Amino acid sequence: MSTNIFNQAVEILARNDQGHYTVPTHGLYPFQWNWDSALSSLGQYYVDESRAWTEIETLFAHQWDDGMVPHIIFHKDDDGYYPGPEVWQTNRPVPTTGITQPPVAGFAVRRLLERAKDTEMARRRAAALLPKIAAWHDWFYKARDPENTGLVAILHPWESGRDNSVDWDAAFERVPTEGVGEFQRRDLNHTNPAHRPTQEQYKRYIWLVQLFRGLNWDYTKLHDASPFQVVDPGFNAILLRSSQDLAAMAESLGETELAAKERTRSDKGLRALNDLWSEKRQQYLCYDRVIGDVIDSPSIGGLLPVFAHIDKEHSTAIARHIDELGKRVKYLVPSHHPDDENYDGARYWRGPAWLIVNYMISDGLKREGHHDTAARIISDSVKLIETGGFAEYFDPMTGEPCGGLHFTWTAAMVIEFLKLTGEVA
Ligand code: DGY
Repeated sequence: MSTNIFNQAVEILARNDQGHYTVPTHGLYPFQWNWDSALSSLGQYYVDESRAWTEIETLFAHQWDDGMVPHIIFHKDDDGYYPGPEVWQTNRPVPTTGITQPPVAGFAVRRLLERAKDTEMARRRAAALLPKIAAWHDWFYKARDPENTGLVAILHPWESGRDNSVDWDAAFERVPTEGVGEFQRRDLNHTNPAHRPTQEQYKRYIWLVQLFRGLNWDYTKLHDASPFQVVDPGFNAILLRSSQDLAAMAESLGETELAAKERTRSDKGLRALNDLWSEKRQQYLCYDRVIGDVIDSPSIGGLLPVFAHIDKEHSTAIARHIDELGKRVKYLVPSHHPDDENYDGARYWRGPAWLIVNYMISDGLKREGHHDTAARIISDSVKLIETGGFAEYFDPMTGEPCGGLHFTWTAAMVIEFLKLTGEVA
C-alpha cells in the first residue's frame, strides 16, 4: 500500500513538473507559487536531488532587488487564473505578484543540505542561496517591522498562505470594496465554490492589490498605507525557524557573521512571540497592528509556532491542545477549531486539514519529544491520502478531498512522511 502511494506521489510531481519549477496543480494554480515550491523540493529530493535544488533556485532567480521573494511567478501566460500579471503590474522582466508568502526556504534548504547524498553539490548550491535567503529575511524586518518589534506583519491575507482564515475576518472589515470594479474569478471554474473564499473576500483581496499597485509596490510605503496589518504567529514562526536554520547553515559554511545576525533575530522574535500566547486558548493568537489588539480566533496559525523552537511550556501546551483536537476530529489537524462558530470543514482555511501544516507541526512536536502526537498527525495524513487521493486539503471530520486535486505539495509531504516513518525505504 505504502509503496503504491509513494509511486502515485512521484507521478504527481512529474505531472506538475515544468522543468525548472513545479505548478501546484494544473488549472487552478498554473504558475510557480513561493512556499509550494520550497516545500515541494523536499519530496523532489527523493526523486532527483539536483532537481530539488533547481526548484528553489528558480524561485530566487525572481527575487526583487529590495530582497522580496514574490508569492507567484507568472512564468507563462495562462488566462485560467485571476488575478494575473495585468492586475499586479509589477513591471518585472518575468511578471510576478508584488506580495510575498511564508518564508519556508531557509528551512527547506537546510533540510536538503543535511540530507545531501551529493554533498559537494549541495554545499555549493546552499552557499549560493544563503545570501539570497538572508536578503529576503532582511527585507521582512525593514519592510514589515518598521518599529523593530521583532515580529513582522502581513499586509494581505494571501501572504499568510491561509487566505480566508477566520483570523482575518474582523481586520478585513476595514478593507473597503469601493472602486474595485467588475472582475471574473477563475478559481470557481476549477473547483467547488463551497471550498473557496467568498466573493466579498475576493473584492477585498483585489482592493488591497490595487492600493499597493498605486504605490508602485514601494515597500517603504506599503506597511503604513495598508488598512490590513496583521502579525500572524504561524507566519512569524516559519520566518523564525528559517532564521534558525539559516544560522545553522551559515555556521557550517563558515559565515559566522550571518549566523550571529540570524540567531539574534530569532531570539528576539521568540521573546516577542511570547506576548501572543493566550492562556485561555492555550495557543498563540494573531495581533492586529492597526487597532493594537490581539485577535481572539482559535486557528492553526496559533499552533504552528511549535515549528520554531519555542519554549518547553508552550510546546507542551500545544501538544496537549492538539491531542484534545484529536478527540473532536477524525483527521488532524483542523485549520480552525471545530467548536468555533466560524468553523467550516470544507472551506479552504476555515477548517480543513492541510498536509503541509501537518508536516511542519509534526516536525516541531517530534523535536520537542511529543512523539505520540506527531505520530497521530502523520498517520492521519497518510490515511487522508489513502481514502481521498492527493487533494489540496481535506475535511477533518469526513476526510472529503477538497479544493484542487493532484496537488504537488500534498504529494511531496506524503513522500516525506513515508520516508520519515520508514514505511518506504
Ligand atoms: C489563490 O489564488 O487562491 C491563492 O491562494 C493566492 O495565492
